[in-house]
Amino acid sequence: MELITVNTKEEMARLAAEIIAKTVSEKPDAVLGLATGDTPVHTYSLLCEKCSEKLIDFSKIKTVNLDEYVGMGYNDKQSFKRFMFDNLFDKINIKHENIHIPDGKVADIALECENYDRLINSLGGIDLQLLGIGHDGHIGFNEPSTEFIYETHKVMLDPVTVKANSRFFKNENEVPRFAITMGISPIMNAGKLLMLAGKDKKEILMQAIFDGVTPSVPASVITKHKNLTVIYCNE
Ligand code: GLP
Repeated sequence: MELITVNTKEEMARLAAEIIAKTVSEKPDAVLGLATGDTPVHTYSLLCEKCSEKLIDFSKIKTVNLDEYVGMGYNDKQSFKRFMFDNLFDKINIKHENIHIPDGKVADIALECENYDRLINSLGGIDLQLLGIGHDGHIGFNEPSTEFIYETHKVMLDPVTVKANSRFFKNENEVPRFAITMGISPIMNAGKLLMLAGKDKKEILMQAIFDGVTPSVPASVITKHKNLTVIYCNE
């Protein structure tokens, strides 16, 4: 594990964008696993800048996102699909058929979860998975539990997560209670993991990294990965 500590969000975003850009230049048809939330926003804007300056080419890149709220799709402004198009996909030269996000609007969620794992396997797995970390130690929406769930699955969001994500909604009642999340397997089978965390996540990040692997802090599982970079920002 490589743990890098930086002093500003700008430095964290710049480093993360460089690591992602390197992956894309080394493998132009790479599969990038992407995350949502505030933490990756600046990294995405730097990737958009690099793309507009022709310093990175997304034309052969495929993407798979970690998660999506059940019941939400692009037309819902708080959906993760909308977040990704607004913050990245609408500003880079990626082909829309290469963008994959769990579909929260389908009737059969269990089938969608199965199909998502099948899709990731058909792509040959994820080359680089970008991760944030939830206040409760979740990765994607793998919430604290008594066991790790390895397949992509429907999850009931932890109250800590509902509260944390309510900042994007009018109030907590409007936050969906269920989501689809990539399970632990597609994440841990990625060629490389890149986790970003700000000062607000210091305690849970230290717990995940140094207190042992436990499903009660799902992010702790990444410490078993052979190619993990964590960028922690003191801001
Ligand atoms: C969200 C996402 C996670 C994200 C986490 C932290 O709910 N499901 O993928 O890493 O919460 O978000 P933020 O970076 O805004 O703190």
